[in-house]
Amino acid sequence: MGVVLILLGPPGAGKGTQARMLEEDFGLIQLSTGDMLRAAVASGSEAGRQAKSVMAAGGLVSDEIVLAILQDRMAEPDVKRGIILDGFPRTEGQAAALDRLLATKGQRVTAAISLEVDDEAMVGRVSGRYTCACGEGYHDEFKRPAVLGVCDKCGGTDFKRRADDNAETVRERLKAYHAQTAPLIAYYEGKEVLERVDAMGDIAAIRDDLGAIVSGVSA
Ligand code: AP5
Repeated sequence: MGVVLILLGPPGAGKGTQARMLEEDFGLIQLSTGDMLRAAVASGSEAGRQAKSVMAAGGLVSDEIVLAILQDRMAEPDVKRGIILDGFPRTEGQAAALDRLLATKGQRVTAAISLEVDDEAMVGRVSGRYTCACGEGYHDEFKRPAVLGVCDKCGGTDFKRRADDNAETVRERLKAYHAQTAPLIAYYEGKEVLERVDAMGDIAAIRDDLGAIVSGVSA
């Protein structure tokens, strides 16, 4: 398998935005547990039914469900190109399970990149977000398509907003991040794979900073 990158950061930090750019720039595969869980909810599967109310309240879905979904995805052949984990791991249990899974493939985490942001700005970022059916992400203020209402990438006009992207739920998601996920920054620092990036600047500048890190660890 190629590189294993982790993007850490609270809701709105830009994990999804930057993961999609790293896919384009480096040919890596974005694995978003949030997207996988939303697909499970939409499919009406048993895992999706259990995840639905937890996600709507801004809490974390159980490690058991998340790990089962991620392991299935990591068994597919395209992950050999290298992966960007977006929104995973989110608990120390998930981090330890990832280490064990990678060890079975003779692999370890290449870099865990912490996107560092101010919480208050995240409420505005997340509340203004919308996504094209093709997966391309936009923002009412910070990332508009060239022609309003038409996706730059696929030309589509079918946009959606997430059910959990309201100010109240975002605050719950921020609490969950600080209580359960932020401790992973120290976890990866201890493993000497942590990189910190100021993610309050503009999207293109952050893309360049991440590109420099990925080029460094891929060399
Ligand atoms: P998930 O889908 O992972 O959501 P999240 O972590 O809350 O993160 P977001 O997708 O909201 O933000 P992002 O960092 O990707 O930001 P984005 O790039 O979109 O998880 C959702 C739920 O699923 C969780 O609450 C939980 O219930 C469950 N879940 C998922 N994984 C789990 C796990 N491992 N364990 C347990 N439960 C799990 O950017 C946001 C907006 O800002 C966009 O509009 C973008 O255009 C804009 N933007 C991005 N960067 C900038 C910038 N630099 N300047 C200005 N605007 C910017």
